[in-house]
Amino acid sequence: MEGNATRIAHLSDVHMLDARPGRARSGLSMGHRFLSLGRPLDAAGRRRKLAHALSTARRVGATHVVVSGDLTEIGAPGELECLAETLHDSGIAPGRVTLVPGNHDLYTSPEGWRRALEGPLAAFRATSAGRAGHVVEVAGVNVLPLDVARHQPVTRSAGWLDDADLDVLAARAADPGLATQPLLVVQHHPPFVRKTQPLQWLDGLVGAARFMEVLEAFRHVFVLHGHLHAAVSKVLSCGVARVFGATAVVDDEDAARVRLYDVRGGVLEAAGLAS
Ligand SMILES: [Fe+2]
Repeated sequence: MEGNATRIAHLSDVHMLDARPGRARSGLSMGHRFLSLGRPLDAAGRRRKLAHALSTARRVGATHVVVSGDLTEIGAPGELECLAETLHDSGIAPGRVTLVPGNHDLYTSPEGWRRALEGPLAAFRATSAGRAGHVVEVAGVNVLPLDVARHQPVTRSAGWLDDADLDVLAARAADPGLATQPLLVVQHHPPFVRKTQPLQWLDGLVGAARFMEVLEAFRHVFVLHGHLHAAVSKVLSCGVARVFGATAVVDDEDAARVRLYDVRGGVLEAAGLAS
């Protein structure tokens, strides 16, 4: 990376369990077993993967780190505390980290995210998803963290952007003061309408169609998302990739991957995966 360029490190889908001594097995619920189907409930391993990904972000000189949701498996207080400990242990200044919640983070309580920002994640509050339309200024880019998560049964995994959220998003996208450099919307769900109506209901983002209209209208707006547990680079009609999804920290071996982007000439460009 060139001297003063901006580099963003994108992690997603950590699915943290409570890995603190004596907590790991006793705190597991039926919800954990349902939601972790096919993935080992290895609390220490998940914590190790996040620690590794954060140290990679430091090593590659990330200006700012974003974590695009499903930070925890069920949003249990112990999981959020363990997440906070691991983030603090990384040595990355909290002001250089943006967190947004995913559907998993709201399975325990509708208040889970708000309480976390007032409690264990308080140091990250100023740079994370909370107040609608809040923009985090980073050298070379503006970051707009969005909370699309709502409390729902563990059998559903949808995301929500209601009209008021979309009005705020459209106003930020249209703000000339924010148009001179890339505006990175960080949210858990991808902004696509799913292929079938049942799938859209079950796992899609309510408001996705209107969000795509905003994206098509404002070419300095980019989206960094998670949820799909896969690297995604989606080219929009202007011919430039502006929607990027990251792989899941939980799905990787110990050397969990981090997706990187560099800002060049006012454009955010994917710069590969590091581990
Ligand atoms: Fe996930």
